This record gives sequence, C-alpha cells and structure tokens, in this order.
Amino acid sequence: MKSKLPNASISIFAVMSKMAAEHNALNLSQGFPNFKSDPLLIELVHQAMKDGYNQYAPMPGDIGLREVISQKTANLHDKIYHPETEITVTAGATQAIFTIIATLINKGDEVIIFTPAYDCYDPTIKLFGGKTIPVQLKAPNYKVDWNEVEAKVSPKTKLIIINTPHNPSGIIFSENDMLQLQSLAEKHDLFVLSDEVYEHIIFDGNTHFSTARFPDLASRSFITASFGKTFHNTGWKMGYCLAPENLMAEFRKVHQFNVFSVNTPMQKALAEYLQTPDHYLGLSSFYQQKRDYFLSLIKNSRFKIIPSQGTYFQMLDFSEISQESDLKFSERLTKENKIATIPTSVFNANQEDFKQIRVCFAKTKETLQQAATILNSI
Ligand SMILES: Cc1ncc(COP(=O)(O)O)c(C=O)c1O
Repeated sequence: MKSKLPNASISIFAVMSKMAAEHNALNLSQGFPNFKSDPLLIELVHQAMKDGYNQYAPMPGDIGLREVISQKTANLHDKIYHPETEITVTAGATQAIFTIIATLINKGDEVIIFTPAYDCYDPTIKLFGGKTIPVQLKAPNYKVDWNEVEAKVSPKTKLIIINTPHNPSGIIFSENDMLQLQSLAEKHDLFVLSDEVYEHIIFDGNTHFSTARFPDLASRSFITASFGKTFHNTGWKMGYCLAPENLMAEFRKVHQFNVFSVNTPMQKALAEYLQTPDHYLGLSSFYQQKRDYFLSLIKNSRFKIIPSQGTYFQMLDFSEISQESDLKFSERLTKENKIATIPTSVFNANQEDFKQIRVCFAKTKETLQQAATILNSI
C-alpha cells in the first residue's frame, strides 16, 4: 500500500515514554499530570452514568455543556458564541484540529505554522493534500517576526495556525501579536486555527489574549480547547471548538461523519462542573506554584532557564553542559541519569537544534523534587 504519510514516524512522546519505562527513568517527557483529577468531577461522571446518560449525545454536544462553554467564553473574553450554532464538543483538541484542517484544506493549499509546533498539525495538513509552510521561531525567546510571517504568505495560503500559550516554548502571544495576526489575516483573507488548549495556564498576572477577543479575527477563526489539559484528565479526550456560524456549519459536516458525537456522561459531568468558575480560574496559580517550586529547586543547576509564561512545560537550555544533539542528550539523560525529557528539535523546521529540552512540571511535589535532584547533578 502506498502510504499517505510516508515520513510519519512514532511520536516523540511515545518514544520517550517507552524509553523511560524501559530504563526505569522518571518521566517528565509527555505532557500529562501525575496527580488525580478532582474527585467531584469523577463523581459527577459516575452519577451521570448511573442516571442513565449512556446513549448518543447530540452531534454538536450536550446542550447544557455548550451553554456553559458559551457563558465561560463571554465572561472571560466578552464574546458570545451561540451554543446552538457556534460551539461543538469534540474528542479532545486533536480531533477538533483534525476536523478543522479536513474542513478547510484542499490539495495545494498552503498552511503557515509556527515551529516548534505541536506534532499533529503538519501530518494532518499533508493528509488533505496541503503544504506546511513553517515559520521558525528562535530560542530563547521564540518571538514572532510578523514581517517574516507576511513574507511567507502566497496566493495559495489558506490557513494560519497559532498556539498560545505555546507548547513547547511556554511563550504567550501579546496583544500586539494578536493585532498583527488580525491585520495579516484580513489583508490576505486567511482562516485562522487558534489552538488555545493551555488557555487557563498563564503566569505572572499575564492575560490570555484569546482570538475570541478580536472581533475581526474571531470572524475568520476556529478556536480549540481541551478539558483534558484543564481538568487533569488527558485520557478522557474531551475538548471543544468555537467558530462563527458559517464556519461551524462546515466543521459539523465533517465532524458528524468523523466521530458523530462525543461520550455522553462526561459531557453531562463537565456541564455541571463548569458551573463553578473557580474550577478553571484557579489553574494558573496552581501551576504557577508548581513552576516556581520546580525552578527554585533547580536554580543552581547548570541549565540556562527562562521561566515559562504559560502551559505546564519548561524549556531547559543545556548548551553549557554538552554540545551533543538534543536527541543524543535526552537519550543519555534517560538511560544514564534516569530522567526522560523531550528533545525539542523534533518540533522545529529542519530539526533545528537550539540545545533545549522540554520538561513537564504537571507533577507532584515528590516527583519535582526527584527530578530536581537529578537535574542538579548533571
Ligand atoms: C498545543 C497542543 N494542542 C493540542 C493538544 C491535544 O489536546 P487533546 O489531548 O485535548 O487532544 C496538545 C496536547 O498535548 C497540545 O499540547
């Protein structure tokens, strides 16, 4: 069979997690918390199952959940997405991203992405015959040069994908970045996919400038969100997509033949759980404490560190420790030092190596202490 994705390999997350297991290493590679989700949320899922909510949900999602998502977005960003027509519940953000790209991209269309980029964008673009045009952000600050972005726009450019807060770098887009994006998208008539899965994990009093806040931008954008990231249950694969009615109508045509609808009891539970905004508004300070604690433990290590601005990832620059490639360095760390991290060159255009590894600090205090002891010894 001729492969549709001949160059796709096993994801780096699976590679590093497997290596971590084989070498009995502490796993700070894959982005998942090692602490429990709120027992209340789990109880609400149980209750929904016991109450008989076990059959198909409506194709766009449980209406109670869509209503509370609408309220949340209105409260946070002063923008109303209509629950009936502009919100769809998805099986995690990954499915939303896949469906958006499937909806928009035809053979020959070009899609601008910022590298380092989350790993599902490029293969999905290719699957639908599109061409990925990377804009490489540079360590250590990963700032966007909007003139460079504009220089990459061609008559074939259809979509631009952004991710803020950004995995793996931990940077966030400023208001000015979003305004620049808005004028670029308007000028060249581009669609925007705004991956905002870390919307509630933002530090040092900064603001998450959601695409939803910029009316002209929102009118041409799909926004994706992830309950897995927000409520410490990445294995549930629950998320949602926001878009104006005309875009959402097309999205749903694909969604209904892809997953049709997402599991019912978890939607019922989330609809209830989201009624209490503290459940997500407290997340930034929860993770900021973890970031600060972890960074205080490793402040005397030989890694060069710029504190993450958002997400639950921290970049560690090892250029003063070793000149090995980041792939070799993280392999050696896993096998010899017993700590697994992610080499970030795999997310860059042409595997550019900035000598940075990514660690996930969504971990218990004990795990962070163990990690720090190892990192301080390197
Ligand atoms: C930037 C980014 N987008 C999307 C996802 C996928 O989210 P989900 O698990 O809800 O599919 C992730 C998960 O790591 C991510 O980091």
